[in-house]
Amino acid sequence: MTRLAGKVAIVTGGARGMGEATVRLLVEHGARVLIADVLDEPGQALADDLGDSALYTHMDVSSKADWDAAIPLAQTLGPLSVLVNNAAIIFQKTIMDTSEADFMKIVSVNQLGVFLGMQAVFPSLKTNGGGSIINVSSIDGLQSKNSLVAYSSTKWAVRGMTKAAAMEMGKYNIRVNSVHPGGVYTAMHGSDLMSQQDADKFYQHHALPRVGLPREVAALTAFLASDEATYSTGAEFIADGGWSAGLVNDALPQL
Ligand SMILES: NC(=O)c1ccc[n+]([C@@H]2O[C@H](COP(=O)([O-])OP(=O)(O)OC[C@H]3O[C@@H](n4cnc5c(N)ncnc54)[C@H](O)[C@@H]3O)[C@@H](O)[C@H]2O)c1
Repeated sequence: MTRLAGKVAIVTGGARGMGEATVRLLVEHGARVLIADVLDEPGQALADDLGDSALYTHMDVSSKADWDAAIPLAQTLGPLSVLVNNAAIIFQKTIMDTSEADFMKIVSVNQLGVFLGMQAVFPSLKTNGGGSIINVSSIDGLQSKNSLVAYSSTKWAVRGMTKAAAMEMGKYNIRVNSVHPGGVYTAMHGSDLMSQQDADKFYQHHALPRVGLPREVAALTAFLASDEATYSTGAEFIADGGWSAGLVNDALPQL
């Protein structure tokens, strides 16, 4: 497919989960991708599997030095035009059980990482005539849950930073949007601990009563990376099975 032919992307957290699905889909559509992650073995194996279309680099998204090293590497694949800020870590503790160090660790990866990424790619995207930045937030950047004070705050921050960056970068033909997945069957969701059928059980009162799959979110990212999305910026794109719309109430009439 040629929907993304000629595009070069960086996908952070691209070694597994939604990041891996995104890397695979972007390549299927003709892009070349720099996979950036801290999980070197699966990251390198994925790049090897994709041949000339992908490279892997070890990158901690919270390190400015790692970003500075990644940009020239990405440019060896061609003119950089897409960044998918996908890497993040989950943390589930109450406010009273979250230490300052815990909180700052989540902020440094999930929030500072996205900020550094947008800053790092801007000069290249501007020089290359524009591009698309896709910041992966969450359903928890639209609402929240008990135990997510640290994680959710970073996902709301990603949503806010997306809008600020869209305002600043639009005149350079750089679009910046946030993607908001609901529950998606990855390691972050415990895919190594429970079957997909067991994961489905968490969502029985959702409009789509099942867990999401990584590729279903990657599809939204591929759209935003493509030239089909040229009038979309500063916006929230949701793939949550209807979670943010509400819950099915069994006490009320249903179809
Ligand atoms: N799975 C879900 O239910 C869900 C729901 C909403 C949003 N999200 C978001 O989707 C994105 C992808 O999540 P996932 O479910 O695929 O998770 P995952 O844990 O399977 O993958 C995350 C990837 O990020 C990498 N990573 C972690 N810290 C990093 C760092 N400092 N530098 C570089 N890479 C780092 C990990 O090594 C891993 O490869 C995340 O932003 C997450 O917050 C996930």
